[in-house]
Amino acid sequence: MGDKMKALHYDGPFKVSIKEIERPKLKHPDDVIIKVTTTCICGSDLHMYEGRTAAEPGLVFGHENMGIVEEIGPGVTLLKKGDRIVLPFNVADGRCRNCEEGKTAFCTGVNPGFAGGAYGYVAMGPYQGGQAQYMRIPFADFNALKLPPGTENEADFALLADIFPTGWHGLVLSGFKPGESVAVFGAGPVGLMAAYSAVIRGASRVFVVDQVKERLDQAQKIGATPINFKESDPVEQIIKANDGMVDRAVDAVGYQAVDKGGSKEQPNIVLDQLIMVTRPTGGLGIPGLYVPSDPGAPDAQSGKGQILMSFGKLFEKGLSLGTGQCNVKAYNRYLRDLIISGRAKPSFVVSHECGLDEAPEAYDKFDRRVEGYTKVLVHPNGPL
Ligand SMILES: NC(=O)c1ccc[n+]([C@@H]2O[C@H](COP(=O)([O-])OP(=O)(O)OC[C@H]3O[C@@H](n4cnc5c(N)ncnc54)[C@H](O)[C@@H]3O)[C@@H](O)[C@H]2O)c1
Ligand SMILES: [Zn+2]
Repeated sequence: MGDKMKALHYDGPFKVSIKEIERPKLKHPDDVIIKVTTTCICGSDLHMYEGRTAAEPGLVFGHENMGIVEEIGPGVTLLKKGDRIVLPFNVADGRCRNCEEGKTAFCTGVNPGFAGGAYGYVAMGPYQGGQAQYMRIPFADFNALKLPPGTENEADFALLADIFPTGWHGLVLSGFKPGESVAVFGAGPVGLMAAYSAVIRGASRVFVVDQVKERLDQAQKIGATPINFKESDPVEQIIKANDGMVDRAVDAVGYQAVDKGGSKEQPNIVLDQLIMVTRPTGGLGIPGLYVPSDPGAPDAQSGKGQILMSFGKLFEKGLSLGTGQCNVKAYNRYLRDLIISGRAKPSFVVSHECGLDEAPEAYDKFDRRVEGYTKVLVHPNGPL
């Protein structure tokens, strides 16, 4: 094995390329190195790709990773060479107070001065992403989730790194209980996973709002009611179809939400619609990403991460809300077992699979949301 490998390299806004870089080495006794079998492109990567973060050229993206253990540090006790594992996008040390309490997305030990770490993400610590042939996994015993050997369910298991747990978490944050009605804003992978989770968990009605036809079609296929916000006010459409407000609402869009015309950004629109569409004392789950500073914001206030929303209405209704990164480890073991038992098949969201060399083109198409690009899986070491 040589010292070099191929990796997806961020060159600047709307530019990524494949470059040869150093292969990662073990740095700490608790590390393992994996050979990446599958890594996904995420809506969160697009924020960096579009130059809407402080990401610097040279960053290797990729926080949704799985692979085969190749090298093992001497402190690792639970894993062995050849194990097939999936990694939560969160990097966590397993020993800080938040980790002890199961809040691994807010680990204070892996990224000093910031609550939370991740692979291949701006401001989330020095952890190279997995859109590369190999990657280093710190605190590997704690972070890795073991999978059955072989290649079965690869696409489903890859989604355990982020979007399946994140969609599920969005629903948990909303305070959802079986039998309740749910409105999910955004039919990207996270929104579709939130809707799918609501179906699995026994929601009475599930509405999914977006404007992208292929994505709304996916929502319909899993038993949700698609709502196209470009046709008319989605809040009115949902209240009419549900014969009243919903019990829970989930924001799976985030700060790059667009206005009713469908192309101009309006960062507060979805948060406000969540407040309007949810019944008094209901709950809002907000896994969609909001950032403390946005270099490309449409106005000065949202540039500082200050989003204007109807807080008075939220107060009047006594709504509760939850937000933040998903603590993937809190869910991934159980969701893995739902996949193994055949009760969940989240890979219905996967629209495209490719090798590393095709990944730059996939970024471009996924970013433009053309040709049905919904979720792209990349196999950096070739097809399985
Ligand atoms: N909390 C977490 O841990 C976590 C993890 C992963 C992703 N995220 C975030 O979740 C969000 C969704 O991720 P994704 O991968 O599904 O992204 P995505 O960009 O693929 O999907 C977002 C969808 O929202 C739609 N949309 C835009 N404006 C809208 C509006 N006004 N109303 C309804 N829909 C609208 C878009 O058409 C798109 O289909 C992103 O902000 C991402 O960064 C958070
Ligand atoms: Zn992701």
